[in-house]
Amino acid sequence: MSNQRVTTAYFREAKKTGRKITMLTAYDYPMARMVDEAGIDAILVGDSLGNAVLGYDSTIPVTMDDMVHHIKAVTRGVKRAMVVGDLPFLSYHISREEALRNAGRILQEGGAQAVKLEGGREVAETIRAMVSCGIPVMGHLGLTPQSIHQMGGYRVQGKDEAQAKKLLEDARAIQEAGVFAIVLECVPVPLARLLTETLEVCTIGIGAGPYCNGQVLVTHDLLGMFMGKSPRFAKRYANLHEEIARALQAYREEVQSGAFPGPEHGFDMPGEVLSKLY
Ligand code: KIV
Repeated sequence: MSNQRVTTAYFREAKKTGRKITMLTAYDYPMARMVDEAGIDAILVGDSLGNAVLGYDSTIPVTMDDMVHHIKAVTRGVKRAMVVGDLPFLSYHISREEALRNAGRILQEGGAQAVKLEGGREVAETIRAMVSCGIPVMGHLGLTPQSIHQMGGYRVQGKDEAQAKKLLEDARAIQEAGVFAIVLECVPVPLARLLTETLEVCTIGIGAGPYCNGQVLVTHDLLGMFMGKSPRFAKRYANLHEEIARALQAYREEVQSGAFPGPEHGFDMPGEVLSKLY
């Protein structure tokens, strides 16, 4: 694997060759370093920050300042992966000017290489404006958590004909506006397959089956670091919540019993210095 920075050209190449794109979330420096060193192609500083790290029950309270703060921490830890920064709720809807300024902050202040935003036709012109300023944009269709109150819950999108047709049209509209890839979240496997086969840009699936050009997961789900229940589509590769809880309890017990700290954790001083202090 080359150490060269992953760019939009890497995504275009992957679409041609069939090489699968790997993407994971990170919100801080140590995790970003570990994800990058594992050879993951793209790191998403998602607004899932709100649920995974900030203790909110949705992504809606996450602000631009929250995003920029965490994107800066992540980009300091990454050498190879493309860092994609999420535009949070309402940061690209109020006006074209505000949308461009906020997308610009993600690259200029945060140091990311691309932005991600949710939505279809209704955001196509905003995407076009960003791309024309040299800002690479990743789209996000299907279950779009910033519209959770409108959708009425976290459920699979595109199951009926009307929804599926709308999704296909939205995907074509944002592709035409210039996105370099599209996240498909909670979309039926056959529909994600059809989208992947018919679009010219890469699809990155989360709960969208194996036919997408790449996959993304929230790293906290993959590592078993969520306090609550992870979604069904998120495969758990470790159970760090249990492991961390075990370590914290062992620390508490050892401090209370006097087993920690041991002699190897302390520092001595010359006896003649000590004797002068008494
Ligand atoms: O915010 C996020 O982590 C995301 C992924 C779920 C794709 O948008």
